[in-house]
Amino acid sequence: MRVQGRDTRACWWDGDAIAFLDQRALPARVEVAWARSVEEAARAIEDMAVRGAPLIGVVAGYALALAARRGGDLTAAYDRLARTRPTAINLWTGLNAVRSAAPGADDMLAAARAFDDAEVAAAEAIGTHGMALMRPGIRVLTHCNAGWLAVQDWGTALAPVYKAARAGLAPFVFVGETRPRLQGARLTAWELAQEGVAHTVIADNAAAHFLQRGEVDLVLTGADRVAANGDAANKIGTYTRALAAKAHGVPFVIAAPLSTIDRATPDGAAIPIEERGAEEVTHVEGVDEQGVLRRVRVTPEGSAARNPGFDVTPAALVTSLLTERGIVRASREGIASLFERD
Ligand code: MRU
Repeated sequence: MRVQGRDTRACWWDGDAIAFLDQRALPARVEVAWARSVEEAARAIEDMAVRGAPLIGVVAGYALALAARRGGDLTAAYDRLARTRPTAINLWTGLNAVRSAAPGADDMLAAARAFDDAEVAAAEAIGTHGMALMRPGIRVLTHCNAGWLAVQDWGTALAPVYKAARAGLAPFVFVGETRPRLQGARLTAWELAQEGVAHTVIADNAAAHFLQRGEVDLVLTGADRVAANGDAANKIGTYTRALAAKAHGVPFVIAAPLSTIDRATPDGAAIPIEERGAEEVTHVEGVDEQGVLRRVRVTPEGSAARNPGFDVTPAALVTSLLTERGIVRASREGIASLFERD
């Protein structure tokens, strides 16, 4: 991924700490921060300094390796990290990949690095397989941020877009702003701009309008957890886009690595949905004319707010699942076929 023209990753192991781009500062500033303990890594995940399902898994993996290097209690470290965010299964995929490494701090760090590299390879393969969905001038609608800030190096939903752009297909992306945290407006728009991909930010409420007018060829999002039957949890608002896509005959594709598929969860109803603080709804955050990040209230004092972070799109609304092992139906059979070679 390119940040201000230079290749970088959303997080990396930096000697004896986890370095990451602090996503809370974007798009105003590119800031690198460090987690030097399990607690700092856990807070970075909770506060969404790092976010996006695959990235959470990578950071959690490095954090467990960090605990081993510090000679800490690995069970306590695992439990602390596992409590950070409940929906993205990648958190546990990353933790388990490192925990199951041969005991020893060096082995665990090697496992964390291997998991990180495997996620990069998976994301790139998603992009390669996703080229089958691309065509010249394609108009893609996405939601939240499923690009290289959420997934090392390529992204999931945006990986085929980046591949298509590099192949000269000139894709265009409608970016849903993604209230309440505005990952689309703040992060996706920023990374598309860094890569020189044509895009337009739209209010969340405008998505169905553009689908109805035939201005969208493909809806492409990521996922935080795909259940065994193909139901998929992703950022709140994904479900309404899937409904609108179905109503207007536009394909709705979920791009996700195998680390996001949870065959132990039978269906979407069993996926835990994170409920975040009401202040993310009652307030909005943005940069003022002086470039200072500010938070302002938009609701009357005292109005209550609810803030589910994710919703579940039923498999019946998902045209297909794009993974590093190819494109399959979002069904029990389609998902089982992905794991046949294991
Ligand atoms: O709350 P966030 O910002 O961590 O949510 C992220 C999303 O919902 C992404 O769409 C999802 O993790 C897929 S990222 C490839």
